[in-house]
Amino acid sequence: MQALVLYASLTGNTKKVARAMAEELNAPAVDVQREPVPDLTGVGLLVVGDGVYFGRPSRAMIRALQGMPPLPGVRAAVFGTYGAWPQQRRKLERLLAAKGMEIIGQFFCPGVDALFYPLRVGRPSEGDLERARAFARELARKAGYLPSESSR
Ligand SMILES: Cc1cc2nc3c(=O)[nH]c(=O)nc-3n(C[C@H](O)[C@H](O)[C@H](O)COP(=O)(O)O)c2cc1C
Repeated sequence: MQALVLYASLTGNTKKVARAMAEELNAPAVDVQREPVPDLTGVGLLVVGDGVYFGRPSRAMIRALQGMPPLPGVRAAVFGTYGAWPQQRRKLERLLAAKGMEIIGQFFCPGVDALFYPLRVGRPSEGDLERARAFARELARKAGYLPSESSR
């Protein structure tokens, strides 16, 4: 079984979290704004992250998830960063559930946006990234996945 991290990150905050999780899972992290979704054969744990933009996930992520084939039996988790509230979470979960995936975890932390959310300066912090790594370890445990199984 392999793990895959898919993310979109318009200003770079979610990318930091995605990289921390991918490192912990020994899995690739694919930016859906720049790259197509890879072949999902063999993926048993799909970890999907995004920022929230005017209450929604990015268009790139919505398109990427809608374009996937049905993936029954795949375990999925959602993560992301936000200025005020992680409003992207429900939409991401709905898109994953629509493909038949079982959602086994959620992780969200604040992410700075200089214009709207300057109080979030410095986020995600080192502490946020450490919590993201711990979350990834917990996901691996729940999914019965050994991080050494995946290939980068
Ligand atoms: C154009 C724009 C719209 C945003 N809209 C929201 C919002 O509706 N709710 C919220 O909590 N944060 C909002 N934010 C803050 C971002 O979600 C937050 O900074 C997040 O960390 C961005 O993730 P990214 O750096 O991975 O793109 C917005 C930021 C931008 C730039």
